[in-house]
Amino acid sequence: MIRYATAGESHGPSLTAILEGIPAGLVVTEAYVNQQLARRQYSFGRGERLQYIEKDQARILSGVRWGETLGSPITFHIENKDWENWEKIMSVSAEDRQEKFRLTRPRPGHADLAGVLKFDRKDTRDILERASARETAARTAVGAVCRRLLEEVGVKIYSWVEEIGTVVARTAELGVEEAFALAEKSPVRCPDKKAEEKMMDAIKDAKANGDTLGGVYTVVATGCPVGLGNHTQWDLKLDGRLAQAILSIQAHKGVEMGRGFEMARRKGSDLHDEIHYKQGRGFFGKVTTPAVLRAE
Ligand SMILES: Cc1cc2nc3c(=O)[nH]c(=O)nc-3n(C[C@H](O)[C@H](O)[C@H](O)COP(=O)(O)O)c2cc1C
Repeated sequence: MIRYATAGESHGPSLTAILEGIPAGLVVTEAYVNQQLARRQYSFGRGERLQYIEKDQARILSGVRWGETLGSPITFHIENKDWENWEKIMSVSAEDRQEKFRLTRPRPGHADLAGVLKFDRKDTRDILERASARETAARTAVGAVCRRLLEEVGVKIYSWVEEIGTVVARTAELGVEEAFALAEKSPVRCPDKKAEEKMMDAIKDAKANGDTLGGVYTVVATGCPVGLGNHTQWDLKLDGRLAQAILSIQAHKGVEMGRGFEMARRKGSDLHDEIHYKQGRGFFGKVTTPAVLRAE
């Protein structure tokens, strides 16, 4: 079984992740992991620290030797470049405790208030530092090695942005590879050029008003083998596991599989792909839509 854990505070010295269950002999380089980390950081928006201060680089401290995994736990270490400005505020030592550093105003819509009450803390920083979405840098490093493993078995992962604020992209006519290639070149990861401009304007407007916007993106996995997930127990089911993984990402509030909530408005006969079989190709659906996962 593949599993991972992350550790580290947003403004602490570093983030760490340990990934277990990757088989031995997989070719992995730090350069590949860092390429995925750079993709996470490349964006258009208010996150100046994310884009300009941190240039995330993962070091692999265990589990890989001479370019290949060993089958042992893989440890990733990502330094926070901004640490020098936080050494006192995030210090391990009680001698550095200072009242002026204490944060006492919980932000709405965040874990701050529930966290200080639950953990009996007097400083919301004790909660927000770990609740922060900076933690996704560690997950990206983990995900990069998992992506490498998937490549070996012919599974490819694609993604692009569908909506930002009220701007909706036109993506239905695009093929998966085309949409992904266009998104990779877009500052808002949107394959629709017209929508891209409107999205950037909407972000600029929100920024000018001290506000933020939400979004919707699509993730597609192609080449998936039959039998992922398991129908025999609730916590092994594929849709359930995908939803848990997606909703655990900070700021995510919804996830749809395939056509998602649209399916509630359609008849069953509209929704189920007819099953066909051809020698050499095996089983396939009449509408060969890949498994689409839409997240908000
Ligand atoms: C999934 C996710 C990951 C983020 N990762 C980081 C990070 O690594 N470092 C950071 O300083 N901010 C991070 N942020 C915060 C953003 O940089 C930004 O401050 C926040 O999303 C608000 O700006 P926006 O309106 O442009 O999205 C992250 C936010 C999200 C939703």
